[in-house]
Amino acid sequence: MQIKGAVAVVTGGAQGLGLAIANHLSSLGAVVVVADRNEVALACLPEHLERQQMDVTQPEQAKAAVAEILTRHGHLDILVNNAGVIFSEPFVNILNPAGIMHDYHRFRDSMTVNLDSVFIVTSAVVEQMVKRRTKGAIVNISSISAGGNEGQTAYSAAKAGVNAMTVTWSKELGRLGIRCNAVAPGFIGTESTRVALKESVLKHIQANTPLRRLGDAHEVAQAVAALLENDFINGVVLNVNGGLTI
Ligand SMILES: NC(=O)c1ccc[n+]([C@@H]2O[C@H](COP(=O)([O-])OP(=O)(O)OC[C@H]3O[C@@H](n4cnc5c(N)ncnc54)[C@H](O)[C@@H]3O)[C@@H](O)[C@H]2O)c1
Repeated sequence: MQIKGAVAVVTGGAQGLGLAIANHLSSLGAVVVVADRNEVALACLPEHLERQQMDVTQPEQAKAAVAEILTRHGHLDILVNNAGVIFSEPFVNILNPAGIMHDYHRFRDSMTVNLDSVFIVTSAVVEQMVKRRTKGAIVNISSISAGGNEGQTAYSAAKAGVNAMTVTWSKELGRLGIRCNAVAPGFIGTESTRVALKESVLKHIQANTPLRRLGDAHEVAQAVAALLENDFINGVVLNVNGGLTI
């Protein structure tokens, strides 16, 4: 697919990995619409990125946003499902006086924002791609945690679900001319990683990574672009983790 001239939606693109992906696709010539719930961050985006206020957990908002984008541009070719929230909570915490088991409501919240959201936004976009016979491409942002990460029951389950939907959709949508792939970043040196993990944990991760460093957001963006550009890649979950899982 030619990224130049394509219309791309990047969810959660107002900061972090999403912003790096949005900027990279824009630099390759795409018209990029950043869809995010954070109005303040949207307002700070550079001119070359379009803004769309949207909560990815709300199906009606997703449908309305897709309709608006189609009215503005006439076509929608690329969806990057990046919005998500890193969440950690041990399944059992014997030191927690409020209850030793993982809270169910926090489990559901993490599933909603990390898994349901991908279903919701992709449904809204693919409905229009199919009706308009668009030869589109979808990239889901998964995580190394999809393999099961200690202390991340909900987040790991959600990202494993994202991988399963990626493969399922690649089979169902391929015959309609729509490809679906995922990028599974390892530990990237973003603000969210530094908030989620202690310095000592990050040092341990780097020491165990063959490349001995954290990833850069731009390297995730390059992987997204590669999956979009190559028309014979379909149903792949591409690890971008410096070899940590080897
Ligand atoms: N940073 C990493 O090292 C890393 C590693 C693996 C996977 N990931 C995944 O990459 C994606 C981006 O992570 P990040 O570190 O850049 O996160 P981040 O917190 O910096 O940015 C997430 C963006 O998503 C938006 N968002 C969150 N919930 C939303 C909602 N309901 N509706 C609309 N927008 C919403 C936020 O406003 C924010 O702009 C996530 O899916 C995350 O799970 C990140």
